[in-house]
Amino acid sequence: MVGRGRFITFEGIDGAGKSSQIEAAVTHLRRLGHPVVHTREPGGTAIGERLRDLLLHQPMHLETEAMLMFAARREHLETLILPALARGEWVVSDRFTDATYAYQVGGRGLDRCRFEVLERWVHAGFQPDLTLLFDIEPAIAAERLAGAGSAPDRFEREQVDFFARVRKAYLERAGEAGGRIRVIDASAPVAVIRERVMAAVDLR
Ligand SMILES: Nc1ncnc2c1ncn2[C@@H]1O[C@H](COP(=O)(O)OP(=O)(O)OP(=O)(O)O)[C@@H](O)[C@H]1O
Ligand SMILES: [Mg+2]
Repeated sequence: MVGRGRFITFEGIDGAGKSSQIEAAVTHLRRLGHPVVHTREPGGTAIGERLRDLLLHQPMHLETEAMLMFAARREHLETLILPALARGEWVVSDRFTDATYAYQVGGRGLDRCRFEVLERWVHAGFQPDLTLLFDIEPAIAAERLAGAGSAPDRFEREQVDFFARVRKAYLERAGEAGGRIRVIDASAPVAVIRERVMAAVDLR
């Protein structure tokens, strides 16, 4: 019999350390015997990756940005996330809808009501089984990104006050999520966080 697949998402401001930890989580889940799909947002599909390229590099109206995020998400759910879960596979995604609330509502200041409409349209009644929120001071995350040395994208070029708003929106959403969102102190050393992440994703 096919077991029930689980949907786990990683969230947090740019430079919090999501991508550094997600591979370890995926490896851990595979060792436990789960088939795992590792994906990301925006992206995860051919169309989604093209939209990601636009979203990260092309200047655009803020509402265009918001709707392209959900357009990419619709495709991602339809062609990758939901079929994998239906096959009993686990899906681990670097960002999902919590990021849209944090960045477009918290960071950009757009009206939350519009996003509730889009969220209901694109995935009414569907949420991750577990979300790990990497919480960190924006100044520390900025130092990490500067140290990484890669060219910053449209979001990474934002200032500390933008990320302070994004962080606050993430934490507020965690408070409203009834236990779905687990906050991880992302200022800890990589190895310490890895242990916490592996313990958290071990859902039974
Ligand atoms: N716990 C940690 N302590 C110190 N440095 C870290 C830690 N975790 C990650 N880093 C470093 O910080 C930088 C950013 O990490 P990473 O790319 O994983 O962040 P991210 O949350 O995926 O960012 P983005 O949202 O921009 O993709 C990398 O250079 C990484 O090596
Ligand atoms: Mg990343």
